Amino acid sequence: MKITLTKPDDWHLHLRDDEAMTSVVAHTAERFARAIVMPNLKPPVANTQLAADYRQRILDALPENSGFTPLMTLYMTDLLTSDEVIRAKQSGFVHGIKLYPAGATTNSDAGVADIRKLYPVLETMQRESMPLLVHAEVTEPEIDIFDRERVFIDRHMTKLRQEFPELAIVFEHVTTRDAVDFVRESNGPIGATITVQHLMYNRNHMLAGGIRPHYYCLPILKRETHQEALIEAATSGNSRFFLGTDSAPHPQHAKECACGCAGCYTAHAAIELYTEIFEAENALDKLEGFASHHGPDFYGMPRNTERITLQKRDWQVAESYRFGKDMVVPLKAGQTVHWQLITEQGG
Ligand code: NCD
Ligand code: ZN
Repeated sequence: MKITLTKPDDWHLHLRDDEAMTSVVAHTAERFARAIVMPNLKPPVANTQLAADYRQRILDALPENSGFTPLMTLYMTDLLTSDEVIRAKQSGFVHGIKLYPAGATTNSDAGVADIRKLYPVLETMQRESMPLLVHAEVTEPEIDIFDRERVFIDRHMTKLRQEFPELAIVFEHVTTRDAVDFVRESNGPIGATITVQHLMYNRNHMLAGGIRPHYYCLPILKRETHQEALIEAATSGNSRFFLGTDSAPHPQHAKECACGCAGCYTAHAAIELYTEIFEAENALDKLEGFASHHGPDFYGMPRNTERITLQKRDWQVAESYRFGKDMVVPLKAGQTVHWQLITEQGG
């Protein structure tokens, strides 16, 4: 069996930098025409000039004639100004500004401590049609890690939606039924990315029978009922939900240790694994909307014209891939994937 789709885009991706980036970027470029590139480098990509420089490094790292377009983002810090938002908009290559609550995840110590201080900037974003991309987790230490997304909705997301009714908001990597319901029921322009690991797994996969560090990402995998809600949302055809892998490579030694860091590497097989999920749900007819249409429609960009073909054929994932001077262990390392990318056809 084969399926052909409009070439998809990845609306949430971590590419890293330097040789690490050079090792992984081809995986994404083979499968996706464009990707929203997250700005959590060290130091963060906090202004348009840094985004221009990073964009050039990505273009230089791409394989010849890849045709891949990086869509850049800025990292929102307490120092972001309205002038910078306008500069970013005018650049034409910055497509969103990412809000990380301070301390929420990998390289987020420069994140926002108090969202209310940034209301004037959000006002400008709303006026300039610059999307706000949100890592929606509270970071207060007394909040249970499994509740961080739900509490963020109650404390911040509802308020943000009300105060800025025309602001385009992407609720990144939704992981709970609460988030799915919020996105479905909200007014105004709102979308949500869904990762493949949150569709494939729940917290039992990560914790029962042994702790599996390569399933550890943030927001953390939740219980099965949330996984079910995500699968239902992704395969429903609702255009508010679209593909964002959150592929986040880390060196093997940084994941397999006493305090392993958060992030799953999925770029090597992303569209193949999403296809498995949609097939299992008898929803292959909804895959192209989720993977290739809803994202560009939300961001106001043209859909891609190239196409990709996937064939139902087993292949085995490598145990690890080179990652700069280190190795990265991919999701499903050493295991079988049932769909394979076979060709790329001109549009
Ligand atoms: C991401 C990373 O490693 O950059 N990790 C993750 O678990 N998703 C950061 C992020 O998006 O939260
Ligand atoms: Zn991410």
